[in-house]
Amino acid sequence: MKNIVVLVSGGGTNLQALIDAQKRGELRGGEITCVISSKADAYALTRARENGIPTRVVPRKDYPDNASYSKALHEALYQEYADLIVLAGFMTILDGKIIQAFRNRIINVHPSLIPSFCGDGFYGLHVHEHALAKGVKVTGATVHFVTEICDGGPIILQKPVTVENDDTPEILQRRVMEQAEWKILPEAVSLFCEDRITVIGDRAFIDYQK
Ligand code: GAR
Repeated sequence: MKNIVVLVSGGGTNLQALIDAQKRGELRGGEITCVISSKADAYALTRARENGIPTRVVPRKDYPDNASYSKALHEALYQEYADLIVLAGFMTILDGKIIQAFRNRIINVHPSLIPSFCGDGFYGLHVHEHALAKGVKVTGATVHFVTEICDGGPIILQKPVTVENDDTPEILQRRVMEQAEWKILPEAVSLFCEDRITVIGDRAFIDYQK
């Protein structure tokens, strides 16, 4: 069984999707062993506690920069024997050292079809504001490995979602979560834990036959 450590900063609906999948026996080959939050008041922590999952808080505000924060996080991840690190609404950019130490073992869920609406400054509701401003007819979500390039790592899974005429950023965000994020994140975690993902260069290949 692989130890899955989930990093969160906010509401934690993606964490909830992982917990629900685990309860249904759909997180094959892994178990959520710890939830680490960058904020002490993140509701995601309540979700973890209600489900008997150990939690830790490594507050971003206690550290002057990304490098010192990543170092503290790095230590916590070693202490937790993390095999897979899932960024589920985690709003801090990790530095190169931690990414190198856990190469191809950190995955992130992003609320657009990468390479659209991603990179620096594209997070949370802003992503949907930009998608609506551009007038795209289809958006979606992406799960990818984390590399030194923000939102630029090998793509594991993507799922498209239709944009409706009268969408607000909030309505679109909810639809992208329901129809895409909450489905592809647990699926990608399972694929990883079953050793079905191989990274070659910039691409991730999935073996469904294994
Ligand atoms: C989700 O939509 C997630 O994709 C996004 O923040 C939201 C967190 O919601 N993440 C990013 O934008 C990262 N670039 P949650 O806390 O309810 O899972």
